[in-house]
Amino acid sequence: METTLTTPAVSSAYQDAYRRAQQAPGDYWLEQAKRIEWIRPPVTGVSTAEDGSHRWFADGQLNTSWLALDAHIEAGRGEQIALIYDSPVTDTIERYTYVELTEQVARTAGALATLGVEKGDRIVLYMPMVPAAVIGMLACARLGAIHSVVFGGFAARELAIRIDDAKPRVVLSASCGIEVDRLIPYKPLLDDALSQASHQPDACLILQRPQVEAKLQSGRDHDWQAAVAASEPAAAVPVQATDPLYILYTSGTTGKPKGIVRDNGGHAVAMHYSMEVVYGMKPGEVFWAASDVGWVVGHSYIVYAPLIYGCSTVLYEGKPVRTPDAGAFWRVIESHQVNALFTAPTAFRAIRKEDPEGKLLAKYDLGSLKRLFLAGERLDPPTYHWLKELTGLPVLDHWWQTETGWAIACNPVGIAMMAEQPGSATCPTPGFQVEILDQSGQPCPAGVQGAVCIHQPLPPGCLAGIWGDPERFHRSYFACHEGYYLSGDGGYIDEQGYLFIMGRTDDVINVAGHRLSTGEMEEIVASHPQVAECAVFGVDDELKGQLPLGLVVLKDGSTQSPDAIVEDLISMVRAQVGAVACFRRAVIVHRLPKTRSGKILRRVLRQIANGEDYVMPSTIDDPKILEEIAQHLTLY
Ligand code: COA
Ligand code: AMP
Repeated sequence: METTLTTPAVSSAYQDAYRRAQQAPGDYWLEQAKRIEWIRPPVTGVSTAEDGSHRWFADGQLNTSWLALDAHIEAGRGEQIALIYDSPVTDTIERYTYVELTEQVARTAGALATLGVEKGDRIVLYMPMVPAAVIGMLACARLGAIHSVVFGGFAARELAIRIDDAKPRVVLSASCGIEVDRLIPYKPLLDDALSQASHQPDACLILQRPQVEAKLQSGRDHDWQAAVAASEPAAAVPVQATDPLYILYTSGTTGKPKGIVRDNGGHAVAMHYSMEVVYGMKPGEVFWAASDVGWVVGHSYIVYAPLIYGCSTVLYEGKPVRTPDAGAFWRVIESHQVNALFTAPTAFRAIRKEDPEGKLLAKYDLGSLKRLFLAGERLDPPTYHWLKELTGLPVLDHWWQTETGWAIACNPVGIAMMAEQPGSATCPTPGFQVEILDQSGQPCPAGVQGAVCIHQPLPPGCLAGIWGDPERFHRSYFACHEGYYLSGDGGYIDEQGYLFIMGRTDDVINVAGHRLSTGEMEEIVASHPQVAECAVFGVDDELKGQLPLGLVVLKDGSTQSPDAIVEDLISMVRAQVGAVACFRRAVIVHRLPKTRSGKILRRVLRQIANGEDYVMPSTIDDPKILEEIAQHLTLY
């Protein structure tokens, strides 16, 4: 590793890795593939599937669960800690060695096999942040079954949509989640979801937590602990590298989430590579991704990457604040000798708000911590500077998406440490050929903003499809500029090779690191009987990055009071998407600003709501309407 700081444009080590991955991707990644254990090592690097998309290591065979667990036991690391469960909300700390975790996973896989689960079956998990969630995911992978984890903060309707799309044979869930000091009974939510869904699973395996006892439905629901205790350990089933490991639903621009499909082989290679190149970790070290297993960060960096790479991973069932205070993160780092922490900037904004001078940090020894990693939303320069001053550590922004599964852009510390540039995610990770394109598909010059695209082939680990919808897969990502993946983010690359991501160019918003669709919220708001039309868009928020705001036009002769309608709308979104949507503001207006062809001018609305300057669009049907809206939003 280079010791002096450099920049992407001049670092020869980085340029060399980037070029090798660009010029001969198949060879570059076959070389990386040798670093993991295969049942049958691949000889094919990249190949093209019938639909024109790319596949990695098509002739390779492996088992991801075996790779993440048993392989370490065979290599003599069985007694090393694999998983540290730290739960301030239940006052619990548990540690599992690789031997112990393997035993639990194999038995849980045995329980699933007893319920008839086979390779290729889908299993939905709706779980809080407890070890059983990680064990359940790895148990599915052991059988070659495809897991689909649904974030516990989503409402029953969201769960039902995912159940109907993935059509699981079994659902894994728990009696409750715990939000600081509030118990969230999960089973009634699951029962509600199943009553809304057309697809019904054969069985549900329910983890009874001591805080809440779930009522089990005879014939369908089984007690998790009893089923596992009665089962024999199941062996790892060989799968093709291209077989799906999981489906993870993410928000698109419509009400229907996209089921991002991840393969086994490319994913395992990418996870292993990223632990070294992106995070600069060594096997045996402690990695903590303070996220949730329901998000891609949780999949990749709580579960798969640290375990595949042979690290100890921390599973934290708590918040950055209030469990019990804003010193919680520093406490966990000291308690478990964490070497690298990865979280969303919003978590540090919450900590900063409560402890701006970092007084709580002074109580703890952060000697083990080498680097801080931030992603999920743009790392705003004030948060960057605050963290930098407070910790004196490298504070590294990196940019990625559910679709890619790992960092598209990062400070590649395992190759060369670049000088930090606040506001930039540094440079494209080797394998991701990032280009900034203008509307006609031409490359933008340095410093000029455009659509951030990735030249095909995408490297290993990226999305292999949208579950059950190849047409949407093509349309969403590859139809806009031929030969490129469209990220949905706008940004630019400067003269020094630094990439700046400036935000989404579509109707996706980011609320406290949670990716949400304004299109979906619009569909819910528009379903209110008194609403004629509406627009939901994201406005800046100091703590959560963005918050949704609804502008609503009522039907003529509406009988309910405007306040009552707004209250209805807020509770409808909360009930149908979940509390995480944070939809708390709706403003009633007479009309919405539109182009002459009837398109709502969302960009201008966002600018007005954020108090930014805006240019009156020449296509607007009635310019006066913007003044009226601006008045409404100022009054609010
Ligand atoms: N289950 C049930 N409810 C949940 C939930 C879960 N897993 N997660 C969040 N919620 C609820 C919260 O309790 C809250 O409910 P309320 O409106 O009744 O108070 C609501 O959803 C909004 O949650 P959130 O936006 O997370 O706000 P918060 O005030 O609870 O916490 C932060 C704010 C910044 C501390 C928190 O959002 C955070 O830690 N964010 C980091 C996100 C992250 O890790 N993202 C992954 C990408 S790296
Ligand atoms: P998700 O799929 O939930 O991980 O959300 C992906 C989206 O979050 C991206 O398309 C970006 O809009 C945003 N995002 C993630 N990381 C960053 C980052 N480091 N900088 C700016 N935006 C980010």
